[in-house]
Amino acid sequence: LAAPAAPADAETVANVAHRGASAYAPENTIASFRLASRLDADVFELDVQETKDHQLVVMHDSTLSRTTDAERVYPDRSPWNVRDLTLAEIRKLDAGSWFSSRYSGERVPTLSEALNAMKDSNLSLMLEVKGAKLYPGIEERVVAELRRNPSWLSERRLAVQSFNWDSMRKFHGLMSDVPIGLLGTPTAEQLPGLAEYADLINPPHKTLTAEYVERVHQAGMRVHTYTINNSQVMRRMIDFHVDGIITNKPDVLADLISA
Ligand code: G3P
Ligand code: CA
Repeated sequence: LAAPAAPADAETVANVAHRGASAYAPENTIASFRLASRLDADVFELDVQETKDHQLVVMHDSTLSRTTDAERVYPDRSPWNVRDLTLAEIRKLDAGSWFSSRYSGERVPTLSEALNAMKDSNLSLMLEVKGAKLYPGIEERVVAELRRNPSWLSERRLAVQSFNWDSMRKFHGLMSDVPIGLLGTPTAEQLPGLAEYADLINPPHKTLTAEYVERVHQAGMRVHTYTINNSQVMRRMIDFHVDGIITNKPDVLADLISA
């Protein structure tokens, strides 16, 4: 993640496991992150939301309904927002059974638990901050958690991304040594201004062209594109010289890279 901006090829493209190896294990769980490592990812991506008592948990949606058994465990807590339940309540939920009975008992990890579980892996981390508007001050809380886990910073194994670019500008002001990723597809005209605080532009793959990737590189940033599970599309993105591919199937990309 810390490499300077430069066109990538199949040997150097970063293999980023989206919510872990989420095609094969329940997304945003420790099991999914560990599987990403076994499937030869370089980076695992996770999403951070905040509980009622301001604890950081790893969860994509702002509600618990899709990826836990919250509706069964707490039938009177509709609409099951993450921000309406405490960490102690969320710890009781099963975050694996919805995906497969093989993963029953898997828990919603805290950010702290995810950092700790993956500390000794060979993976870097792409940390997505969700809900900057929903959770005022979430940037400060993520920074505090990262400061409690300094090896991710000192080993330069970390980048932080968001769809909310203002939130990322703020994050850069709080922690300027962490590479910043902006999700979305800024215009070519916006790129030089964004390069003042961002290191990565992370667009959906359907918006990309080789020319656009080159413009990002010219502005001194790198491109990590999402979410690609098909090897032909991966190949096209590599031909566009993207620097990273975000995928639910890191094994498919690993096979392509090693072919
Ligand atoms: O890393 C890119 C991707 O995670 C952004 O979209 O909705 O899966 O968080 P989403
Ligand atoms: Ca994400």
